[in-house]
Amino acid sequence: MGTLIVYYSRNGGTRKAAEALAEEIGAELAEIRETRKRRGFFGFMRSGFESATKRIVPILPLEPACDLASYDRVILATPVWAGGLASPMRSFLAAHAAEIRDHGVLVTHSAPDDSYAPVMDAVDAVVGRKRSFERSVVSDLHVG
Ligand SMILES: Cc1cc2nc3c(=O)[nH]c(=O)nc-3n(C[C@H](O)[C@H](O)[C@H](O)COP(=O)(O)O)c2cc1C
Repeated sequence: MGTLIVYYSRNGGTRKAAEALAEEIGAELAEIRETRKRRGFFGFMRSGFESATKRIVPILPLEPACDLASYDRVILATPVWAGGLASPMRSFLAAHAAEIRDHGVLVTHSAPDDSYAPVMDAVDAVVGRKRSFERSVVSDLHVG
């Protein structure tokens, strides 16, 4: 039943990249949301810490609600945090990877090099399969 892009975005960069990709390939979109805010310097620091320590954090149901198994491919869109996978995306995958038939990865990052590449591999490692699609997008670093 087509492609779904599941994204997490703290500051809007990944949302923008996911929306542009959805428009390009004709995919649907769903957002991973959280119970707790990550604003400001402390939110920034906590986010980096959670990524580096592979934390699982509380997340809300996808918006809109989706039956992941009904999609041919699910593209997982995440920012790079401290060289790793954003904790809300790690948490989503910990709960739902088994429902995904085939996956792609979209990462957004601020470093103008290929230091995002291990994050794509980190998604594959959690899902337990090699990605069938990948895209990386450079976007601004936001602390606030
Ligand atoms: C806590 C934190 C850590 C980050 N660490 C990195 C990093 O290690 N490498 C990088 O290229 N970008 C890093 N960034 C930049 C984000 O990956 C980039 O700005 C991303 O597009 C933000 O997505 P968003 O606007 O959807 O939240 C970091 C951003 C945050 C908030």
